[in-house]
Amino acid sequence: CDIGSKEKEKTLAMIKPDGLLGNYTERIKDVIVDYGFSILREITTQLDQDSASRFYAEHSSKRFFPSLIKYMTSGPVLVMVLEKENAIADWRALIGPTDAYKAKITNPNSIRAMCGQDSEKNCVHGSDSLLSAQSEISFFFEDVSSALHLLSYLFASR
Ligand code: TYD
Ligand code: MG
Repeated sequence: CDIGSKEKEKTLAMIKPDGLLGNYTERIKDVIVDYGFSILREITTQLDQDSASRFYAEHSSKRFFPSLIKYMTSGPVLVMVLEKENAIADWRALIGPTDAYKAKITNPNSIRAMCGQDSEKNCVHGSDSLLSAQSEISFFFEDVSSALHLLSYLFASR
């Protein structure tokens, strides 16, 4: 048993449409593995208006929201659950600042510097807190137990 090892943490990572389009997937996965993350789950999916708007609901009143939704629905995304100690903060540090253009200057080794373009087309997503990691993971990877829970609820209410 590994006494003294810290609790592992999970975070949600996403390669956005420009990342997939630019064939950055393998390079990003190499960085993920090099930095000691395990990829627990992985799905390629296409967000529609509704799912993209729900995913970015906290930004719905921002000026950039319509453009963000258009971009996020412009092609497939690759969504992953990453796990390691301190995964949430470490993944955020690795992807760099939101504005990929600035990232190229201030964080040249970051993932957003590598494959992003600006404050919208920034190639990757990372959960920003424990709460958002949990809700974003269940947004894409609803586990079997919660699906069963919902089913039993639906039957009970008939
Ligand atoms: P935000 O949560 O602030 O950034 P992060 O992705 O680093 O957590 O914003 C969510 C997304 O909204 C961001 O990844 C890209 C888009 N966005 C814009 O298009 N323009 C902007 O000015 C900002 C701040 C964000
Ligand atoms: Mg955010």
